[in-house]
Amino acid sequence: MAQDWSPDSWKNKPVIQVPQYPDTKKQEAVEAQLKTFPPLVFAGEARQLKEKLADVAHGKAFLLQGGDCAESFAEHGADNIRDFFRVFLQMAAVLTFAGGVPIVKVGRIAGQFAKPRSADMETIDGVELPSYRGDIINGMEFTEEARIPDPERLLKAYRQSAATLNLLRAFAKGGYADLEHVHQWTLGYLKDSPVLDKYQELADRITETLGFMRAIGITPDNTRQLRATSFYTSHEALLLGYESAFARVDSISGDYYGTSGHFLWIGDRTRHIDQAHVEFLRGIKNPIGIKCGPTSDPDDLLRLIDKLSPDNEAGRMTLIARFGAGNMEKHLPALIRAIEREGKTVVWSCDPMHGNTISTGAGYKTRPFDNIAAEVEEFFDIHAAEGTHAGGIHLEMTGKDVTECIGGSTHHLKETDLSDRYHTHCDPRLNASQSLDLAFRVADLLKQKMKGDKRGGLEMLATGSM
Ligand code: PEP
Ligand code: CO
Repeated sequence: MAQDWSPDSWKNKPVIQVPQYPDTKKQEAVEAQLKTFPPLVFAGEARQLKEKLADVAHGKAFLLQGGDCAESFAEHGADNIRDFFRVFLQMAAVLTFAGGVPIVKVGRIAGQFAKPRSADMETIDGVELPSYRGDIINGMEFTEEARIPDPERLLKAYRQSAATLNLLRAFAKGGYADLEHVHQWTLGYLKDSPVLDKYQELADRITETLGFMRAIGITPDNTRQLRATSFYTSHEALLLGYESAFARVDSISGDYYGTSGHFLWIGDRTRHIDQAHVEFLRGIKNPIGIKCGPTSDPDDLLRLIDKLSPDNEAGRMTLIARFGAGNMEKHLPALIRAIEREGKTVVWSCDPMHGNTISTGAGYKTRPFDNIAAEVEEFFDIHAAEGTHAGGIHLEMTGKDVTECIGGSTHHLKETDLSDRYHTHCDPRLNASQSLDLAFRVADLLKQKMKGDKRGGLEMLATGSM
């Protein structure tokens, strides 16, 4: 167990990006109540995910992580969850087929509520109010009342997370994810899209393969992997009062695990080595992530990894690179080389969203699809050049047909389209067709990578260096 650590030891450190509740009595009462609530996930599941991420670190699997920037109370519903899960499964099928490796599926869901903000206050038409920090903290409406942090929201976020996770577990294990349904995961959102043809072709090939397997006796009835999938949850460990209420001792290992989600990460704004968020994360044994951005210094990153992953256990640490298109080459190689020099085992994942946000003249935050795709390509190229593994992608996406990011080969969304269905509670998300479109782009890169890895392995065998 981590030394001198307790679920509350973060309270002795400077903390940023968490709210000041005006009613501290109510806050304490709610946090005490949360401590008595059932865990959302089990330690054993988090350990399983860590093992899968160890395979990703070694280039034997690929991580697909994605979901809302911020889940909201307003968008909570069965259709939204199903639509998200369906497009996520479709993306995973595309990637599995291309890469010939298992895809580790992790949603930004069932707990992704709290948002870090660049500014504490927001001004509209001369009126200044506290910034919106996610539905678990305050309300998005621009009124004084809505923006007051309310502890009751913690309870609501917990209940929503539990209900969401319950449905996801049912979808993953109860037959919806059966690969024989690959054609039935309806694709109405792809009407008249070139992506539809690509997907139909892939689904045909999967169906053909399943037919062959059935002929030799491998069916969904006798092979669990064909009818069920493993799906894990993740969110930013930002609201520490909530997170520490779910830090629970695992009865098998005696270790603390964060049980609000399987995988927890800290963001670009809260990864300070002597502050509260790092302190909290160091004591729980889940697989964890750190966002790396243009302000990440290689030596600081190494110190952070020493603190958060002192045993260098494969699968513990995922580094989520988010630099922006055209900006990776300047920063990422130095980070990769530092990690390699010191023999750290990490998963490298690419978040092509947070470095590519722009504002339109009409005041919408958006992200150009082409820049998102370009950053992913740079990520793969740099890892190929460094001889390291491009291990995964981390996306903000939804299964709905929203108009938040521009571009993509289905609707070629333009700035003027954004006002049609701009629903996000925080950053702009890829809609369903843009998500699948991107999955096909990533699939091509993954295919090339796997070919290169094979060639590299054979060369090493031939030269006796393996
Ligand atoms: C996020 O993932 O929603 C986020 C705020 O990212 P970052 O910390 O990388 O800015
Ligand atoms: Co975001």
